[in-house]
Amino acid sequence: MTDRILSSESHDYEEQLELSLRPQKLAQYIGQPRVKENLKIFIEAAKLREESLDHVLLYGPPGLGKTTLAAVIANEMGVHVKMTSGPAIERPGDLAAILSSLEPGDVLFIDEIHRLPRAIEEVLYPAMEDFCLDIVIGKGPEARSVRLDLPPFTLVGATTRVGALSAPLRDRFGVHSRLEYYDEQSLADIVIRSGKLFDVNIDDQAAFEMARRSRGTPRIANRLLKRVRDYAQVIGDGRITMSLVKQALELLQVDPRGLDHIDHKLVRALIERFGGGPVGLDTIAASIGEERVTIEDVYEPYLLQIGFIQRTPRGRVATDIAFTHFGYEHPAQN
Ligand code: ADE
Repeated sequence: MTDRILSSESHDYEEQLELSLRPQKLAQYIGQPRVKENLKIFIEAAKLREESLDHVLLYGPPGLGKTTLAAVIANEMGVHVKMTSGPAIERPGDLAAILSSLEPGDVLFIDEIHRLPRAIEEVLYPAMEDFCLDIVIGKGPEARSVRLDLPPFTLVGATTRVGALSAPLRDRFGVHSRLEYYDEQSLADIVIRSGKLFDVNIDDQAAFEMARRSRGTPRIANRLLKRVRDYAQVIGDGRITMSLVKQALELLQVDPRGLDHIDHKLVRALIERFGGGPVGLDTIAASIGEERVTIEDVYEPYLLQIGFIQRTPRGRVATDIAFTHFGYEHPAQN
């Protein structure tokens, strides 16, 4: 499952790929116009006042460029960025070490910030608010608290689950930016830009075809591009054309709407075994041999997003769009 080509989660071996494709400046960052416009103003204002940028919370589904945006923010501010993640910070001392290594104005990026342990959040509050650290030295009756001053810094927190963030932490971010799924045009622009960086020739039509199958997600678009490029070099003449994209993605089992065999298995079961529903999640899970949580967290979000399935109080339902996609007539219309 982790190697599913349409997964929006990043694989460890992809870090290098993502780094090499990452835009450096806001002007090179494609899509998310509302987020970009706001950040541009806040960054300019902070630079005019010669202050650090306010803390920024980026939230939205995986693969939409939260890490990339954090690096762009640092670059626009002309400061360093230090990257870490919620689960990587286990003890208050880990956070203290990171914070005290920052230079004035630096960006600290904490990915999956909703997974930060509570005890560490407490250390983070005074750091975010007053740029200081309260450290307890010693144990028991000997213990005393020392206050350490920190340089002003910008915390950029990223999360896929903003609702899981505690209210006090959420409230300490001055800027809240929600990243949206990308439209076809933006994804096609990203594919064309990445193609230039890979030095591979892509037809506009071919770029749009990859965009349509990328589930609104740049990470998936870039991953498909990489696979299609392999195919073009081995089977074709190196150029990425519409017909080549179609052939390659058929081989990779990515259909015209960006659904793969797992999506097919799920939606087909709903239609073919349960008449389109409503059917309970546990029943579907048992029927296709997947875990309930995997279906909920991994398979369903995109199917819900494109309106193939709906969640109702009585269970999951396949929509007209899903029936049509799989070549069935909707029972209600018979
Ligand atoms: N690569 C991945 N995401 C991107 C974006 N939003 N803009 C430009 N290149 C990207």
